[in-house]
Amino acid sequence: MDDKRPLDVIDPDSEWECTVEAPVNIALVKYWGKKDEKLILPYNDSISLTLDETVLGTRTTVSYSATYEEDCLVLNGEEQKISSRLENVIEEIRRAFRKHAVRNKMNAQNLMIMTRFRFRIVTENKMPTAAGLASSASGMACITFALCTALGIAESVDMSRLARLGSGSACRSIYGGLVQWEAGKEEDGSDSVAKQIYPAHAWPELRVLVLVVNGEKKKIGSTKGMQMSIETSDFMISRPKQCKDRIQEVCWAFQAKHFPALGEVIMKDSNTLHAICRDTLPPVNYLNETSEVLIEFVHDLNSIIGEVSVAYTFDAGPNCFLVFQEKHEHLLKWILSQTFLDSNGLLNTDKPKFDNDENLYADL
Ligand code: DP6
Repeated sequence: MDDKRPLDVIDPDSEWECTVEAPVNIALVKYWGKKDEKLILPYNDSISLTLDETVLGTRTTVSYSATYEEDCLVLNGEEQKISSRLENVIEEIRRAFRKHAVRNKMNAQNLMIMTRFRFRIVTENKMPTAAGLASSASGMACITFALCTALGIAESVDMSRLARLGSGSACRSIYGGLVQWEAGKEEDGSDSVAKQIYPAHAWPELRVLVLVVNGEKKKIGSTKGMQMSIETSDFMISRPKQCKDRIQEVCWAFQAKHFPALGEVIMKDSNTLHAICRDTLPPVNYLNETSEVLIEFVHDLNSIIGEVSVAYTFDAGPNCFLVFQEKHEHLLKWILSQTFLDSNGLLNTDKPKFDNDENLYADL
């Protein structure tokens, strides 16, 4: 297969392919709830930190040809039915491509062949899927990036808008560093896009450690959980304003590199998300006993250090993301291994349960 996109005359029997990677992002002020289910327009603004894709993320290869009969998706080695969301993403990318081709005066014969292209999308997550580890964020961002790169439109479209149609949080994984997703005001979602607030190198000492407490698929996915909260939790009423205020605090803390201020907002917003979930009817509980022990551990550690030096945050799952600065990395890892794993690095049954010691991931 040719790994280059066709430029001049296209042979309709040829196949092309490209491979890209996309990272996970972890929300510091969380997205929870939608104004529009189909367009995936969020109820509130959110802000996140994009992690290093070599540790946690997704790798996608897209091959495409006019000879393929239909689009197909292989996720983690298994062929899957293409979801209606992914169908929307592919359709929207085809539309963007047609616009781009017309604008760039692509010859009519090539355009005809290219509109007959069907895609084979092979995608692999580097972490458990659907376990509250943001696999849908990196997954949809990666597929969007791969399709746009394959068609040569990655530079000319807003990929965050396209990725959003696959999964809301995916729009933030298009950019690195500190990324804000504004809910937007337009009904068609054209202004509901992510933008980078600060690149990762603006605060190079910042670290995220991911503790995989449980890699199993969660019982109630985020899509369902947030729908239930919108319908039943009164806490949602004040949420949009609360998020705007907290996002400002995050941006200020980032600019000032003030970790205690950042850590406090991060923990408060994680706690708010899980309070909303508990206020939902029937209540949704994403945290487990180990998550609760980790929350207590972080507060105890901070009080020993004398200021907020480590912050936890949990998405829709029991797995814990710890945010801290490089100067505390060794101490934190050492205390974690002393407290939660036995001398062989194996599970200590008296202590909270992790899947195994392989599940300590560091974002460096
Ligand atoms: C708790 O993006 O997975 O991780 O848009 O329905 O696909 P859909 O939901 P998803 O929800 C993520 C929710 C969250 C918070 C966040 O990432 O902001």
